[in-house]
Amino acid sequence: MVTAEVDSGSMHEHVVVRRGTRSGLPIIVAVHSTALGQAIGGCRLAHYPHWRDGLTDALRLSAAMSDKCALAGLPNGGGKTVVALPPGRTPDGATRRAVLHDVGDVIADLAGAYATGPDVGTGPDDMVTIAERTPYAFCRPVDAGGSGDSSAHTAVGVLAALRALCAERFGSADLSARSFAVLGLGRVGGHLLRMLAGTGATLVAGDLDDSRRPLADAAGAAWVSPQDCLTADVDVLVPAALGGVLTVDSVPKLRCAAIAGPANNQLDAPATADLLHQRSILWAPDIVVSAGGIIHATAVELHGETSEQAAVRVRGIADTLTGVLRTARATGSTPAAAARFRACQRIRDGHR
Ligand code: PHE
Repeated sequence: MVTAEVDSGSMHEHVVVRRGTRSGLPIIVAVHSTALGQAIGGCRLAHYPHWRDGLTDALRLSAAMSDKCALAGLPNGGGKTVVALPPGRTPDGATRRAVLHDVGDVIADLAGAYATGPDVGTGPDDMVTIAERTPYAFCRPVDAGGSGDSSAHTAVGVLAALRALCAERFGSADLSARSFAVLGLGRVGGHLLRMLAGTGATLVAGDLDDSRRPLADAAGAAWVSPQDCLTADVDVLVPAALGGVLTVDSVPKLRCAAIAGPANNQLDAPATADLLHQRSILWAPDIVVSAGGIIHATAVELHGETSEQAAVRVRGIADTLTGVLRTARATGSTPAAAARFRACQRIRDGHR
C-alpha cells in the first residue's frame, strides 16, 4: 500500500474549535507555532457566513502571526482567536461576558502555550473579562495592570514604516510632500490619520461607516467612498481596515505607487504580490508594518520595559522594512517573498 506523504512543514501545532459552553458560539483558537516561544495573537470577534469560514480565517491569521513575531525579532510564535459570530449578531452586555469567558476557558486549557490580545472587534476592556479566566491576555487597561490599548503603538509603527517606504520608493523619508489614502478609520486608522495630518501630508480617507467622517474632517482629509479611497490617485495607499483588499480585481485599478498599512492579510492570495510587482507598486508586507502593537505589549508586559524603551523598538520597524525592501530589490523578488524568507530564516535559527 502506498501512503500519501503529508507535508507538515507549515501545519498548525494545535487548533481548538469548541462550542462555547456559556454562549453557544463557535470559539476557535489556532496555535500555529511555539518554535520561538509562546504563541501570541489577538482575539477577533467577527461575523462569518459559517463558522468554518472563521476557522479558515483563524488558520491564515495565526500563521501570519508566526511570521510577524519572527520578523519583529520577538521570542514568540503565532496564534489567533476567532469567535465566529452569525451574521447580524454582535454580543453585548452579559452575552459578551459569556463569550469572552468561553474564550478565556479555551486559552486557560492551553496552559500558557498561547496568549491573546485585542483585535478586530475587541478592546482592552474585553481583555479584562478574558483575564478573569486566564492570565494570558495582553493589553488590559493600564489601571487594570496591563499595557493598555495597543492601537496608538501600532499606528506609530505604521508611520515609521511609511517613512522607510517613502525613502525607498521616492528617495526621501519626508512625508509632507506625499499624498496618502487611508482606507479604514477604526482605532489604528484613526490614530494614523491624525499623525499623518501632523506631518503636513495630503490626505484622502474612507470608511464603510459614515459616522467616522468627522475624523477625516478634523484631519483635513478629503472624505471619499471606500472604493474611491482604494483606487485614489495618491503616492501611498494605506489599508487600515479588514484584510483581503488587494485582489486580482482590485490591483489593476490601483493608482498608487506604493502600499503600506496596518490591516492584516491584505493580499487575498500570495500570487497577488506578483501582480503588484508587475505593476511596479511597492508593497510593504503587512506582517512587518503592523507589528507595533505586539512589539509594545510584549516589551512592557513580558520584558518589563518602559513605554519609551518599547517605543524605540516599535520605531525599529522602519529598519526591518528597509532591510526587506532592499533584499527584494537586490534579488529581484517581491517584498512578500523577501519577508517570508527572512521570517523562515529567523524561525529556523531561533529554533536551533
Ligand atoms: N491585534 C494584534 C495583532 O494582530 C494582537 C495583539 C496585540 C496581540 C497586542 C498581543 C498583544 O498583532
